[in-house]
Amino acid sequence: MKLLAGIDIGGTKCAVSLGVLIGDGTIQIVSKTRFHTPSTPEEAIEQLLNALDKELENRPGEELAAIGISCGGPLDSRRGLVLSPPNLKGWNAVDIVSPFTRRYGVPSALQNDANACALAEWKWGAGKGSSNMIFLTFGTGMGAGLILNGALYSGTNDMAGEVGHIRLEKDGPTGYGKAGSFEGFCSGGGIAQLGKRIVSKRLADGHPPEFCTTAEELPLLTAEIVGRAAEQGDPVAIEIYRVSAMQLGRALALLIDVLNPERIVIGSIYGRQKAIMEPIVMEELRREALPRSSAVCEILQAGLGEQIGDYASLSVALNHLLEKGEIQ
Ligand code: BGC
Ligand code: NA
Repeated sequence: MKLLAGIDIGGTKCAVSLGVLIGDGTIQIVSKTRFHTPSTPEEAIEQLLNALDKELENRPGEELAAIGISCGGPLDSRRGLVLSPPNLKGWNAVDIVSPFTRRYGVPSALQNDANACALAEWKWGAGKGSSNMIFLTFGTGMGAGLILNGALYSGTNDMAGEVGHIRLEKDGPTGYGKAGSFEGFCSGGGIAQLGKRIVSKRLADGHPPEFCTTAEELPLLTAEIVGRAAEQGDPVAIEIYRVSAMQLGRALALLIDVLNPERIVIGSIYGRQKAIMEPIVMEELRREALPRSSAVCEILQAGLGEQIGDYASLSVALNHLLEKGEIQ
């Protein structure tokens, strides 16, 4: 059986997975290794190669057909370079594809992580059956993958869908090095910053929330802490997600007005906080987008859940083989 390998390089975690292509174009994941993203690209590459070696050792007699690598942008997919992603400090023009082609001698391709997730959700998840869909990561960073007229659109030099950089407010939490940006309001780091802003006012007023009662705890506030408190009904935590949701709705309206998509599929944090965010997102986007466009656009949470990153990198491998005409 033919094996595909998927390499997922994230701001927080890396993963290496193996999948087998089954008859009807679906992929079955057969193994996976996960680890915290090392602090240098050299270490990361070494650990990724070692993990893939080990996983392949456990599948003797099976042939590796292709490798797909998914990583945050900016990147140069043609030359296989990771340029300088805001969420991967120290990665500057790193040649990520060559180490894999050298070691394994199979076709290998690099793709933006949000684009890769868009491919996976379009093939197997919440985007299935649509021809115009947008995928938004809403994880460590905010990026978009665009499926337009039934194909991935990556732009002139892989920069399509860098929506995290769009400024939504003059001031606000920072994302992608820009205050008030979409990534500033809608990402893990952004939620933590929003939380710090809102909680520090409450500390000053003498009404701190239960999840952060002292100034010493404030720098340690993360999106996970705020998320857990929101799930337990903490009103301050809920307020933090409401602010983020309002900005998400505004950004969705922009995307809907420009691209008139059939579906927008949102990953990670949106799925976890959907009960709080969805009504505000819908209200804001109905107010802001042209009704004829918003009426035809469904807003959905990602369908592949925790496995989205594995399917994403594997779909890069699959797509590469399809483009080369090596499979139908
Ligand atoms: C990067 C995007 C990426 C997104 C999600 C952003 O900071 O600029 O390329 O898709 O994070 O990882
Ligand atoms: Na993208």
